[in-house]
Amino acid sequence: MDSAIDIDLAIRDVDILTMADEEIIKNGEIGIVGDEIKFIGHKVIPSDARIKNEINGSKMVAMPGLINCHTHAAMTLFRGYADDLPLMEWLNEKIWPLEARLKAEDVYYGTLLACVEMIKSGTTTFADMYFFMDEVAKAVEKSGMRAVLSRGLIGVAPNAKEALEESKEFVQGYNGAADGRITAMLGPHAPYTCPPEFLKEVIEVAGILDVGIHIHVAETLSEYEEIMKKYGKTPVQHLNSLGLFEVKTIAAHCVHLSDEDIAVLAEKKVGVAHNPKSNMKLASGIAPVDKMIKSGVDVGLGTDGAASNNSLSMIEEMRFAALLQKVAAMDPTAVPAYAALKMATVDAAKVVGLEGKVGKLAQGFKADIILIDFDKPHLYPHHDICAHIVYAVSSADVDTVIIDGKVIMKNRKLLTLDEKLVADKLEYSAKQLVKTSHF
Ligand code: NI
Repeated sequence: MDSAIDIDLAIRDVDILTMADEEIIKNGEIGIVGDEIKFIGHKVIPSDARIKNEINGSKMVAMPGLINCHTHAAMTLFRGYADDLPLMEWLNEKIWPLEARLKAEDVYYGTLLACVEMIKSGTTTFADMYFFMDEVAKAVEKSGMRAVLSRGLIGVAPNAKEALEESKEFVQGYNGAADGRITAMLGPHAPYTCPPEFLKEVIEVAGILDVGIHIHVAETLSEYEEIMKKYGKTPVQHLNSLGLFEVKTIAAHCVHLSDEDIAVLAEKKVGVAHNPKSNMKLASGIAPVDKMIKSGVDVGLGTDGAASNNSLSMIEEMRFAALLQKVAAMDPTAVPAYAALKMATVDAAKVVGLEGKVGKLAQGFKADIILIDFDKPHLYPHHDICAHIVYAVSSADVDTVIIDGKVIMKNRKLLTLDEKLVADKLEYSAKQLVKTSHF
């Protein structure tokens, strides 16, 4: 009887950063069966295995696909439309009026373009909060990416009840969709846009549907002060007193925190999505990342939307995360390269609720793998792979992207999407939106 194993995809002669630890496996190999990593290490693929497809990984580094813990993908539509403004003026006068005019098709192409950009910069999973989420799900399905999707809910809006109903339907229809690549959550926007009664309803629904919550928390000092004034508690303690952290939570930003807040985030296992570039651009402040990590809080990285960044590259986000903490603490040892890498991979997986599935290259994990081309002048000599990825690699060095065992990009060519067509459609949508706007 023939007992030889079938390998759907083998990557050979590749240096591997597994993110299980800092060690690099030199000239290793990875064997993928279906959507999973079956073999990883030195000469681990059985010699009689039947290899269906093979990639030569020479001069490349394989690592887990990057995980963007907080974004609003379709906001690519507004990239470069309104810059250099304070957060509330930016939202009230520029972004929200345009968002009120969004149509389903705009969100579809906005998200597809975001997927193109994310794949080309090595991101394989993203956590999104937006509107028209069935369009977002369609884009995720087509692109081949993995995503954690939540419909944004503004509790003070007149349609808040309907939006929560719509969220329920979305969760029921899409949780586990796209061969399990889509996970659904609920997305109450923030404590300052969602009153306590509304948040309590959301928490109840999350419990019934057994899904997580994705919310902005303590992004600006004005939010911190407003919540303190209204409820006599910090945003973190206000949400905790409502019972929100009993539900698996992605808390985006967490810039303004007391020491007690940090203890609550650690104790309740809240996943924090740190967005250094957005926080810098909107001058929201510097999140106490080093302190949070040392206190045992799970911190992942996010780009936030392309309108407040203005890039969706997680490679840039890692770099800014490390540099910002160093200069903030006046300490070059704060957030070293490997810590920044963890925030974009293994710790990010915990933040978005996919721990044990993605974020690490190990047997039994999903085959979400990127190959970075190290045969580039700006990457020689190869002293320290981790430092290079955080401080020297650019998005354009990402050569190959594999998600759920499928090759999504090879030699920088996207295999699931027509890049030019998506860009043209997005450009048309964005121009129409601005043209019809009265603002
Ligand atoms: Ni955001």
